[in-house]
Amino acid sequence: MIVAAAREELESARKALPGRVAVVMTMGALHEGHAELIHQARAQADSVIVTIFVNPLQFGAGEDLDRYPRTLDADLAICEAGGAEVVFTPTPDVVYPREALVRVSAGSLGNVFEGASRPGHFDGVLTVVLKLLHLTRPDIAFFGQKDAQQLAAIRRMVSDLDVPVTVVAVPTVRDPDGLALSSRNRYLTAEERRAALVLSRALATQDVSAGRALFDAEPGVHLDYLERLDSATFEAARDGDLIVVAATVGSTRLIDNLPLKDS
Ligand code: PAF
Repeated sequence: MIVAAAREELESARKALPGRVAVVMTMGALHEGHAELIHQARAQADSVIVTIFVNPLQFGAGEDLDRYPRTLDADLAICEAGGAEVVFTPTPDVVYPREALVRVSAGSLGNVFEGASRPGHFDGVLTVVLKLLHLTRPDIAFFGQKDAQQLAAIRRMVSDLDVPVTVVAVPTVRDPDGLALSSRNRYLTAEERRAALVLSRALATQDVSAGRALFDAEPGVHLDYLERLDSATFEAARDGDLIVVAATVGSTRLIDNLPLKDS
């Protein structure tokens, strides 16, 4: 496995990769959910590139950029075990050699739900995703269903900007008790982790009113939204194909979602 920190190292490693190339983009702090993305990439492509980059552009003022977990050695072990050929681990000055004056806009998808709470977040995500697609030149890119709005914005960017890549969504990986895996789960105390189960329990009701009622019994959890919507546009829709939830547990903001198969 080649670990490339510089653009030139990535470029020469990329040139040597045979066949259909997959990319899995991450911000590190890898867990079983990322391992599943790498596993799917491995199964569906000839070569796998993983990127590990905590993207400053997608963090707002007061968010957790500085305390975002950085666990490079453990991350590389997961990449190696998953069979990745190349891991790109740039620093911010490699990805942004100068100020990113021009950015990709997520348009209306960037202003609702997660975008309403995190202004500019999806513009930052799309900007780095497009840059990493240019740098890694994959045929196929894997993203987690867990970040459903990010997935919708990336799909829309790829379509609207004619980016030559196939986007594949990988189902959310959960702990046995239902908690969706997230790098931010490690911020939770034992009591907060227990309380956080209300997110998956609320989704399991498949009913927005019943789900919201469950949050009343968890005073330590602040519900931001629980809505049914169209998974492509993120417009609220009573017959939408996705239920999304976001809540703050202690000081940790968590999101989750449930695709509705029969809608
Ligand atoms: O999902 C993430 O980890 C990040 O938003 C991504 C796609 C790697 C872009 O920084």
